[in-house]
This record gives sequence, structure tokens and C-alpha cells, in this order.
Amino acid sequence: WQDRLHLLDSVVSTQEEAKKLAEAGAPEGTAVRAEEQTGGRGRMGRKWHSPKGKGIWMSIVLRPDLPLALTPQLTLLAGVAVCTAIREVTGVPAGIKWPNDLLAGGRKICGILLESCLREGGLHYAIAGIGISANLTPEDYPDYLQEVGTSLLIEGGGIPVDREQLTRAVLAELEYLYCLYLDQGFQPVKELWESMSVTLGRQISFRTAQGRSEGKAVGLDENGGLQLQDEAGNITSILSGEIEMI
Ligand code: BTN
Repeated sequence: WQDRLHLLDSVVSTQEEAKKLAEAGAPEGTAVRAEEQTGGRGRMGRKWHSPKGKGIWMSIVLRPDLPLALTPQLTLLAGVAVCTAIREVTGVPAGIKWPNDLLAGGRKICGILLESCLREGGLHYAIAGIGISANLTPEDYPDYLQEVGTSLLIEGGGIPVDREQLTRAVLAELEYLYCLYLDQGFQPVKELWESMSVTLGRQISFRTAQGRSEGKAVGLDENGGLQLQDEAGNITSILSGEIEMI
């Protein structure tokens, strides 16, 4: 997939650029990385802070033949691929918070946004958006991110990250894991995710339509949902949303 990477300077969001390429028939593994995003998007309608030259702001086209209900598995797969690449290239001990935030030192270093495009009720293609805060310094963060965000530079003791090397490693890991997934199903990805998780074994709080609820994170179900155990020992899964570790 390395030779399917498009490097751009400033865009609103690489998600839109990758969508345009996908609509024009670009093959799987086609990726767009930009130096800067002026309208970077996060999950749940949030903005994604994407300053120039400081991060890896990248979107990749995937075309799996999957029922829509299984797309959360792709999100987890992308988290495993990026976590592996970060650990290999930088040595920063990143971990995954369900579903796919990468944390280091308890703060966020990477976010993943998986967007699906449907056709005739099925999945036409998916765009995996990856935002890695590589070389941001504390001054690069606006006030509202100071407490929650960190970077590989900060967590790696001030050593700047070679963004080209990390980009290549992310694409290689993603291609490898994706092919493994198409060949062997979710099980190998699930095991890797569980081994990299900072969520499992922790008490979790999350919001539902009924209000806040709590449980202990005990595993992933076969769709990629997070299994929570309540005090009575009952296990339920949550499929999407935001959790807090308490
Ligand atoms: C999140 O944690 O909320 C997900 C953040 C995803 C950010 C990436 S950066 C590349 C791609 N383009 C975007 O506009 N968003 C994703």
C-alpha cells in the first residue's frame, strides 16, 4: 500500500479527499496524508486539532465485503495496526482504550475515525481516518486539549518522530492485519487488541439513553463490542460510544 499514498499540503479533511478517490474507483489501500487539516474531524462531531507538519493526518480506503454490523471490527483492527507501528518505530508504550483511542501516559496520542459508505444496503467502502499526534509540543495544544492530549514527542522524552518512517510502518501493519482478517476472520485481531488494551480489567462508566451506567470491562464480543460485567455477574456488550475508565 506504500505506493498508493498521496501526500498533500493543506486540506480541510483527509477523509473527504480519500472519499473523492474512493468514489473515482481508487483501489483498496489508497491513502491520503496531509501536512495540515483546516477542518479535521473527530468522532461524535468533534474537531480534530491537526497543526501543520506536526502529525500524521491520514485516511485510507478499504473495500471489504462485510455486513455493516461488522464494521466495528475494522475500527479495532486499525487501532491494533497503529498501536503496533507506534511501539515498533518509537518505543512509546502505547495502549488502546476501547474502541480505538491510543493512549500513552494516560493521555491521547492518536484517534481513529472509521466512516462507512453504503450502497444498496451493503458496505460500498470504508475510510479509516488516523490522526497521530507525533511531534506536537505542549505549546501546540489549545487550552481545551492540554489535560487530555499528548504526543509521541512528549511521551518519547523529546525525541522527534520520523513521520515518513511511521507512516510506512502504519501502512505496512494495516495491510498485513487487514489481509490476515480477510483470511482468518476477527479472532487474531481480537486477541491482539485484548493484549494491547488498557481498558480490560478496569471499572468503566458510560452514558446510555437511560443515564450513566457502570461495569467491569471483561472482553470483546465477536462483533467488537465491549463486554461489561455488573456486580451481579451479568455480562452485557456496548457497541459504540464513549467510555470513561474509573
Ligand atoms: C477521534 O479520536 O475522535 C478520531 C480522530 C480522527 C482524526 C483523523 S486525522 C485524519 C482523518 N481526517 C479527519 O478529518 N479525521 C481523521
